[in-house]
Amino acid sequence: MLAALAFFAGIAAALAGARAGWVVFCLGLLAIIVFHQRQLQRLLTWLDEQGGHVPDDKRVPLPTTNGHWGEVFYLVQRDYQKNMSLSQHAVEERQEMFQVAGALPEGVVILDPDRRIVWLNPSAQRHFGLSPERDRGQYFNYLLREKRLLEWLGRGAAQETLAMASPAAPDRTLSLQLAALPNGRRMLLSHDITELIRVDEMRRDFIANVSHELRTPITVIVGFLEAFADMESPDPQQFKAQIGLMQEQSDRIRGLIDDLLILARLEADPDLGETEIDIASLSQQLRGDALSLSRGRHLITLDLDTEGALRGSHAEIYSACMNLVSNAVRYTPVSGEIALSWDITASGGLRFSVRDTGEGIEAQHLPRLTERFYRVDKGRSRGSGGTGLGLAIVKRVLLRHQARLQVESAVGRGSRFSAIFPAERFTPATIDPAAPLAASPAVA
Ligand SMILES: Nc1ncnc2c1ncn2[C@@H]1O[C@H](COP(=O)(O)OP(=O)(O)O)[C@@H](O)[C@H]1O
Ligand SMILES: [Mg+2]
Repeated sequence: MLAALAFFAGIAAALAGARAGWVVFCLGLLAIIVFHQRQLQRLLTWLDEQGGHVPDDKRVPLPTTNGHWGEVFYLVQRDYQKNMSLSQHAVEERQEMFQVAGALPEGVVILDPDRRIVWLNPSAQRHFGLSPERDRGQYFNYLLREKRLLEWLGRGAAQETLAMASPAAPDRTLSLQLAALPNGRRMLLSHDITELIRVDEMRRDFIANVSHELRTPITVIVGFLEAFADMESPDPQQFKAQIGLMQEQSDRIRGLIDDLLILARLEADPDLGETEIDIASLSQQLRGDALSLSRGRHLITLDLDTEGALRGSHAEIYSACMNLVSNAVRYTPVSGEIALSWDITASGGLRFSVRDTGEGIEAQHLPRLTERFYRVDKGRSRGSGGTGLGLAIVKRVLLRHQARLQVESAVGRGSRFSAIFPAERFTPATIDPAAPLAASPAVA
């Protein structure tokens, strides 16, 4: 501003002809040139610093100045900051996208138009046995030479999925899909469908088993009915015997349907409907039912090592315990012993055990006993009214109560089936000091 005044004063003086006026004019002109030169220098230095040579904390902001330079500084700074935040945002978004793709359970491999690997996530690494460091930039065809896969890639059909064994883990099955990306790139997606296949197989097996189990008794009943229809004058004695057989088969069907309904409910209903179950009275109920099932054919004992309350669904726990008891009765020959007992495990859990002196089970069958319809001896199970679903029900019930089933068995000597409940579900009976011999009722 001063320089400009001096400049105009110089012009005025010069026009007036004074020599000093020319001097003032020149000085003013010089001052203006120096001023602009300095502002320009500031701008250049600032722009240069934005190039990244100077650490962020050492950078000096552009000064605020009045006039045209002030406007220039302001506009340059504003545009610069806008661009900076845009590119920062773009970098962050890109990073986030890669993080998301990296965390996907599906494998993702990005291929360039020549099928070279541009990028892959950890799931793809697992599915295909590829390494992101080693294999980036490599030709996918050279790394995975499976003919079906390469033909499928060659067809490049986005709608067509391909199921194949995982090259890294042949016991797992992958479902592959291709998707087109911009610039001729493609995205190969891999999905591990091993579990889906297993569940589907289980479902099919289950339906086949149920149909088979129902078909056999129905065939028997239908056979009798057809014979009756053909009879002119049925013999009452024979008629009665056959009705008895038909009733037996009907009971078998009903038992199967009952067990199927119990299983379905256990799998569908998340609600346990918990109560405090008094162990002493549950034990008496189980013992009574064991005696009536056995009809005096076995020696049945009950050993109550601990008393208190178990928190859970009464109906479910009763049904699980009763399944163990009825197995012991059904798979133990006449005059065998069956011992029911409750005790506390070393880790503080509550254990209900059913020990029998029955036929025992070979070790190879033990891991499969809780599978639906798995029986060691089909004929014996069916003959004694078994549905093959008892231990599957036990397993489900225990799972819902965070409990587990333990089976020990020796062929020819007997078995011991134990349900072990976690300590958190058990409240031991507290002894009332005023009445030392009486157990107080368990509290919730
Ligand atoms: N206490 C036991 N002694 C011997 N075998 C047993 C005993 N409990 C279960 N099993 C075997 O386990 C199989 C599966 O039991 P479960 O699921 O209850 O079905 P089932 O209806 O056949 O009893 C039985 O068929 C039987 O072979
Ligand atoms: Mg059973």
